[in-house]
Amino acid sequence: MANSEETKIQAQARAVAMEKTWDSSFQEQVAAAAYNTAPVEILVRTLAHHLRPRVKPEDYRRLSFLEVGCGAGPNLIWLAERGIRASGVDISTTALDLARRHFKERHLESQLENLSHGSATALPHADASFDGVIESCVFQHLARADRIQAFAEVVRVLKPGGVFVGHMLSRRHSTYGSLHARELSDDPGTILLQSDKVSNKFHLETIGLSHFFAAAEFSTLLAGCAMVDPLEATYELSREESKRRGYDRYLQAMWVVYAIK
Ligand SMILES: C[S@@+](CC[C@H](N)C(=O)[O-])C[C@H]1O[C@@H](n2cnc3c(N)ncnc32)[C@H](O)[C@@H]1O
Repeated sequence: MANSEETKIQAQARAVAMEKTWDSSFQEQVAAAAYNTAPVEILVRTLAHHLRPRVKPEDYRRLSFLEVGCGAGPNLIWLAERGIRASGVDISTTALDLARRHFKERHLESQLENLSHGSATALPHADASFDGVIESCVFQHLARADRIQAFAEVVRVLKPGGVFVGHMLSRRHSTYGSLHARELSDDPGTILLQSDKVSNKFHLETIGLSHFFAAAEFSTLLAGCAMVDPLEATYELSREESKRRGYDRYLQAMWVVYAIK
């Protein structure tokens, strides 16, 4: 079999596996009433600061934004509430059903351009379609080839001058610190997270492939953007709280990646 054909088949197999994993994760989250319904604060704050000096609030309705891996849609709802036209893509149909329901409950359907079932690696949108693309905790779970492709897709669908805000794991995270000996030899920063301590699939410790990004990766992944500015946001649990949750030390460390095409 030709190499490119084999790569394509492997990519399709990964997409099928990802769809199964995320859909069952969402079903578990629905049953436990534990899926995310709040906008990711640091992401929406970054967007608000980007928009404030550039666009008058009455002109937000001219903007069209996409969220890759939109889940139940809280970030899209934040955009829609400000008048921005919102589109989402997700690999889980359960997540998309939740997002659709939340738009309906808030009477924001007219702000919703489309919700598509698809993969971050092959966005169903034309080149230069969006003024902004957002992502939170999606690209960190993609295998290397898919991760590279997903960032390239972001750049492809952004209009020149469009903004990208992404939110993803940093290598300073204590989970990486304690498990980095297990990172994949052909993909530094990537660990297959599995634990017999926690049984649910939506916990970081059991979520499977997770990539902890280093700052230097973003300029390559977002080549094609005129400006790439990753900012690290951290918080540390107190020693007592860390212990109570079963850790020696717990430091959450995430990148907020701000880029302009
Ligand atoms: C951790 S959740 C975050 C959801 C949402 N961004 C939020 O902030 O609430 C990750 C989301 O990415 C979706 N996802 C995972 N892999 C994907 C892929 N390859 N393409 C599109 N969506 C994907 C999952 O179905 C899930 O909804």
